[in-house]
Amino acid sequence: MSANDMTPLVDLAAQYATIQPVVDEAIRRVIAQTSFIMGPDVAAFEAEFAAFCAAQYCVGVSSGTAALELTLRALGVGPGDEVITVAHTFIATAEAISAAGATPVFVDVRPDTYNMDAAKLAAAVTSATRAIMPVHIYGQPADMTAIAVVANAENLLLIEDAAQAHGATWNDEPTGALADAACFSFYPGKNLGAYGDAGGVITNHAALAEQIALLRNHGRRDKYFHEQIGFGERLDTLQAAILRAKLPYLADWTDARRRLAARYHDLLADSEVILPVVDERANSAWHLYVVRTPRRDELLAYLRSRGIGAGVHYPIPLHLQPAYAHLGYVADDLPVTEEIARTCLSLPLYPEMTDAQQDGVVAALQAFFEEEVR
Ligand SMILES: Cc1ncc(COP(=O)(O)O)c(C=O)c1O
Repeated sequence: MSANDMTPLVDLAAQYATIQPVVDEAIRRVIAQTSFIMGPDVAAFEAEFAAFCAAQYCVGVSSGTAALELTLRALGVGPGDEVITVAHTFIATAEAISAAGATPVFVDVRPDTYNMDAAKLAAAVTSATRAIMPVHIYGQPADMTAIAVVANAENLLLIEDAAQAHGATWNDEPTGALADAACFSFYPGKNLGAYGDAGGVITNHAALAEQIALLRNHGRRDKYFHEQIGFGERLDTLQAAILRAKLPYLADWTDARRRLAARYHDLLADSEVILPVVDERANSAWHLYVVRTPRRDELLAYLRSRGIGAGVHYPIPLHLQPAYAHLGYVADDLPVTEEIARTCLSLPLYPEMTDAQQDGVVAALQAFFEEEVR
């Protein structure tokens, strides 16, 4: 099989081919301006992404991880504080909490949507709890209605890890609307991806936006006047310009993902895999299309041997990672999370994917189970 027969998990080269002139022009413009650090494209992208999210403010930062950490720090979350989150996520969610000096507390997720189980929240709240950080996993918003009820009742901060959920809505409101802030990653493979590391925070609170903007840039208001001890976590102008070039396409790309997800749903309706479930109040951004099967590892190997770039997000939940052994969690502490980690499989999904490529993925998946039966 040649490389051309491959159906990758994501295809950034195919995307670049559709937008090359505008991306190249954006890069040329920044180089011509030599405005590499905090150039005009940074503020312009912030205004445009805030508008896209129907939020008042966006602060561009160096990554999704930095977005989460700086938001926590700006809200005063630190040593001695607990932040309730999930273990079924990329490790950056918890790392940001740890980097801010606080302690992550993991609650289990729901077996249907794979998102934070709001019914488990109350039992996890202690006198040290300061914040709840749900993750909109695979692009589907968590149950922000139920989570906000707990946050309000317990007087907790609410921060969305929206790294995978650009353009998703909950009750027709864009992610960010029900929280103090929402944090985005623009890692290259994300729904809106830079050509390097990049991230952003959206919020409707002016003081919070101002504090994050201070922290990302060495705590300064002036070139050599440092009001606070900050960080070097700015959004590069080149990345901001590339993100500006791509943002006008994001709504169409999300529509394409939604069409392909619906098509997978139809084509796989009678298959042996468990299909993703979307809450009727959610409109997912479909960052990933994740099915489940107890034969996950065999199916993964089978698809890969046929040139299909399936993936696993994520094979080891955070509470069982060596990095978090000191928290003292053991197997079976989060049974739903652990079952999902054992069985989840991400199928190729990206806006430029053709129906023929998708048919090939479905045919290979079905062939695997037919061979199993024999
Ligand atoms: C759920 C989640 N949170 C946080 C991050 C961290 O983002 P970044 O890689 O831009 O630091 C990612 C992506 O990598 C993610 O998927």
